[in-house]
Amino acid sequence: METSSQHLPFLKWVGGKRWLTTTYASLLPSSYKKYYEVFLGSGAVFFSMRPQQATLSDINEELIECYSVLQNEWQEVVDQLRGHHLKHSKDHYYKVRDSKPSSLVKRAARFIYLNRTCWNGLYRVNLRGEFNVPIGTRENVLLHTDNFEELSLLLRNTELLAADFEAVIDRANAGDFIFADPPYTVRHNFNGFVKYNEKIFHWDDQIRLRDCLVRASKRGCLVFLTNANHQSVIELYQNDFELVSLERNSGIAANSRNRGMYEELVVRNF
Ligand SMILES: C[S@@+](CC[C@H](N)C(=O)[O-])C[C@H]1O[C@@H](n2cnc3c(N)ncnc32)[C@H](O)[C@@H]1O
Repeated sequence: METSSQHLPFLKWVGGKRWLTTTYASLLPSSYKKYYEVFLGSGAVFFSMRPQQATLSDINEELIECYSVLQNEWQEVVDQLRGHHLKHSKDHYYKVRDSKPSSLVKRAARFIYLNRTCWNGLYRVNLRGEFNVPIGTRENVLLHTDNFEELSLLLRNTELLAADFEAVIDRANAGDFIFADPPYTVRHNFNGFVKYNEKIFHWDDQIRLRDCLVRASKRGCLVFLTNANHQSVIELYQNDFELVSLERNSGIAANSRNRGMYEELVVRNF
């Protein structure tokens, strides 16, 4: 049965973890102090866990600004989206894509409008930091499943930061829960990097993330990371954490010894 939480992620995001929350919710902790999500994207896990207290961060400034505006001004954003919904066309899309609104509400609505109507919900910018994804095939800007009021209530008690993951993870204390879902890069993969924003997530960043999660684990934080089920990632984490391989479609969780059949890896310390 679907619950309203499943509809709260209001963005379509590459690597979105809605499937994790529907099939593997039992792997997530049931109690913890504060919730930290440091690669927020569409926030599927945050919206499903509905924590009382949270710090949410992502390096994408436009994304974090959009969440911040929704904390208090969701109605104004929905009004703007209604306008985009009525005007949506190829001309309107490119006009909005080329615009730089000075108002925060208009910028947040522009971000959601482009996310919902661009090609595959992709976020990509050129070297000047300008969004450059072409129009996609989706027509609907407002969806019958939208519940901006509910998501704004959930966001109201959260701290939102546009930041690299390291400094944020370093702030978490004993008993806090850290969910980390970085871009999936693996060692020796020169062609297939996922380019988010202007900055590529390199293998060095994967090592920096592991080191920072090991520090957090030693401080007593609950750590949960998702990543590619690849030998290089397994080697990175196997000495310090428990590894669980996940099959995305059938819903079977298995020990990492059966890897190969499984696409995703969960790394945990609880
Ligand atoms: C796989 S996506 C997260 C998807 C998210 N879990 C969801 O359900 O939509 C990875 C995110 O990491 C962000 N990111 C990339 N490099 C980062 C960094 N160095 N620090 C923090 N966030 C970063 C990207 O902007 C992107 O939103």
